[in-house]
Formats: sequence, C-alpha cells, structure tokens
Amino acid sequence: MPIEGTHTIVMNNFIFHSPTEFIFGRNTENEAGSTLKRYGAGKVMLVYGGGSAEKSGLIRKITDSLTASGLEYVALKGVKPNPEADLVYEGIGLAVREGVTFMLAVGGGSVIDTAKAIAVGAVYSGDFWDFYIGKATPVASLPIGVVLTIPAAGSEGSCKTVITKKDDLGIHKISIGSELIRPRFAIMNPELTMTLPWMQTAYGVADMLCHIFERYFSNTEAQLVNAYSEAIMRDIMDQALTLKVNPDDYNARADIMWAGSLAHNGLCGVGKVEDWASHRLEHEVSAFYNVAHGAGLACIFPAWLLYVAKRNPDMAWKFAINVMSVNPQGLDTDHIIAHGISTLKQFYNDLGLTTSLRELIGEEPDIDAMVESLRHNIGDTLGNYMPLSMDDCKEIYRLAL
Ligand code: NZQ
Ligand code: ZN
Repeated sequence: MPIEGTHTIVMNNFIFHSPTEFIFGRNTENEAGSTLKRYGAGKVMLVYGGGSAEKSGLIRKITDSLTASGLEYVALKGVKPNPEADLVYEGIGLAVREGVTFMLAVGGGSVIDTAKAIAVGAVYSGDFWDFYIGKATPVASLPIGVVLTIPAAGSEGSCKTVITKKDDLGIHKISIGSELIRPRFAIMNPELTMTLPWMQTAYGVADMLCHIFERYFSNTEAQLVNAYSEAIMRDIMDQALTLKVNPDDYNARADIMWAGSLAHNGLCGVGKVEDWASHRLEHEVSAFYNVAHGAGLACIFPAWLLYVAKRNPDMAWKFAINVMSVNPQGLDTDHIIAHGISTLKQFYNDLGLTTSLRELIGEEPDIDAMVESLRHNIGDTLGNYMPLSMDDCKEIYRLAL
C-alpha cells in the first residue's frame, strides 16, 4: 500500500542481457584453464592482488590449471584496494608487449576493475583514462574472466569498473559502465572466501546490500522486482549474522557469494530508475581517506536514507517493514521509518561496522573538499529517488558524522 501523497511511475521498458557464465561451487577454480580454452583464449594475463591469493595457494592452482590446458600466461600482481591508474598503465604496456588476448582476474572488485580497465585500454590508441572522464567511449575490449575471492563489489557480473587517479586537480575515483567489459565467466567457489579477515566479509555485506538499495529506492513501481530484492536483502542479513558466529559455514558463504552477484548484475534494477547517490557520495570518502568502500557505505547509506525519507517516505516505509521487520502496529510513518533505519544501523554494528564517518576515518572529514570533488567528478546534482543538490550532499555527509 503506497503512502498517501507519494507518486510512483510505471515500470520502464527494459532489456535484460547479463550473459556472464557463473561456474559455482567447490573446487571450480580448477576449471580456470579448461574454461579459458573453451572461450578461445590465446595468451592470458593473470591479474591479482597483494598476496592473499598467493598465500592460500590459489595462484598455484590457477597456473597449474592454465598449464594443463596448454595456455601461456603473463602475471600482473600488486593490485591494491581502491585500485589506482598507475598499475593499469603498467598492465596495458604488458598486455600490448606480450600480445595478451584474454584477461583473468583472480580476486575481488579491485582486481577485476583493474583487469577491466586494462582490457579496454590495451585495444585503444589513446589514454585509457579518456573513458573515465567521458572523452571517449570504449568500442572494443579484450575478453575478461574472473576467479572471485571476495563477495562484495559484484564486479564479476557487472559492466562497471571503478578506478582512482590522482592528478594536479585532485583525486578522482570514477566509475564507468560498458557491456564490453562484463565478464564472460566468473568462477565462484565459496570456500575461497573462508580465508577472508572478518571485516572484509562485513565490508562486502555492506556493499552488496547497498547495490540493492541503489535500485530498490526508486520511484518506479515494480512489485515483483521489489519482492525478490527484499528476499535477497533479508537473506544477506540472515547469513551475515550466521557467518559472524561461524565463518566456515559453507551454505552461508555460498548464499552471500551468490547474493553479491545477484545484487549487481542488473536483475534487481530491471525496469526501474536507479539512484546511486550513496555510491557517489562514498566514492569521495574512499578516494580521500582510502577506507574500504563497504565501510564507507555503512556510514553514508543510513544518513542518505534519513535525509531523503523526509521528502520521499514511500520506499523507506516499505523497507522498514518488509526488510528490517519493523512491526508497524501503533506506529506512525515517521516512527516506522526511524525504527527501520536504527535497526539497519544496529545490524551494521553487530557485524563490527561503524556508522560514523568520523570514527571510520579517525579524523574530522573535510566535507567541503569532498563536495567540491564530487561536483568536479559528477556535476551539480546526483541521484534519482530524490535528486540531490551539492548542499543536500553536505547535509548527508554531516548526518553521517
Ligand atoms: O590484495 P589481497 O592480498 O588479495 O587482499 C585483498 C584486499 O586487501 C583481500 N582479499 C580478497 N580476497 C581474499 C582476501 N583476503 C583473504 N582471503 C581472500 N579470499 O580483500 C581486500 C579487499 O579486496 P578488494 O578487491 O578491494 O575488495 P572489493 O571486492 O570490496 O572491491 C572494492 C573495490 O570495488 C569497487 C570499489 O569502489 C572498490 O574500489 N567497486 C566496483 C564495482 C564494480 N566494478 O561494479 C561496484 C562497487 O560498487 C564498487 O564501487
Ligand atoms: Zn558498491
């Protein structure tokens, strides 16, 4: 039942084409070589991070699997969280010199996004950063495959890549989308996520939830999409609490891993006008203070919801009842919404996440500088559920303190 006085718009026409092949379950990493072969890979570039995949023996398993399939490869290691342009340039040089024809990312969002940037940059004669500043649009890409080690960013099934570049004008953490970079396949063994430090699991949970929030909080009427989105959100929260107690629970790991992909492969946004203001507000936080993206979202999203619900309460009310299980009996709309937001914050706290920006970064954030950077990177307004001015953005950062 919509709240009186709010307006919804009918579902948009849509095309859902999200063709990533998901290869899911125990030991599937051993299929990396045969899968690449099936996709016609020639020389492969293996991209990975700072050490966890080497330490766990995963890289050895992958290279054994490539060798067994007769595939040549070169390796680019050292991707850091909130990945930067420098390693992308290095990777593009390597890909061109070595005649790489297929990218294989072994890791999480940072590794996958780096591989995606290299994939479009290696077949472009200009500077890959042109794509991120809107100076050019990708028209070709090397194909990309993924072995996922952390459920979070959803990049294994998304058409997005987020890279940070520092220059004389400041820090730019920018996201772009192109169907050309949606991975051809993603190998997902939930057991690989059992080596994650607890906080990385928690950050991932906050990120995947927010990927659904960005689509759920919409003025488009879409009852079925909302219903399955609510089911996925409830399951993520249930399973996250299970993992907090028992991090080796396979079924909970499996649910969280699959949910991370469903959250961001487009399924939860079909026919809807999506929002994405919380993500853009957060990208400034992780760019300025190099915190984990999910940790930033746990501070920003509740503040965003508190702010926009005053002007557009409809979905906030539904969310409180259908996702946060607030009992509406005897409560007015404002109280239902307030209770929904405080229950969400409590859930984050139960996972060990703070919802205070000041506490997260350990200092007073420079709100004016972040908003100025946002204006430079995005423009004068952002979001759709309730379009925000730069003054609104300042208010939301203040609410997140
Ligand atoms: O570098 P290593 O040693 O591998 O350590 C990583 C890293 O420090 C560690 N890790 C990963 N798998 C592990 C593990 N440690 C132990 N065991 C494992 N199995 O986890 C740390 C974080 O990795 P990262 O890839 O940074 O995490 P995540 O997947 O959360 O990615 C975050 C990045 O993705 C972007 C974010 O902005 C951020 O830059 N996003 C990308 C999106 C997309 N392309 O669609 C959408 C998202 O909204 C997001 O913005
Ligand atoms: Zn995200």
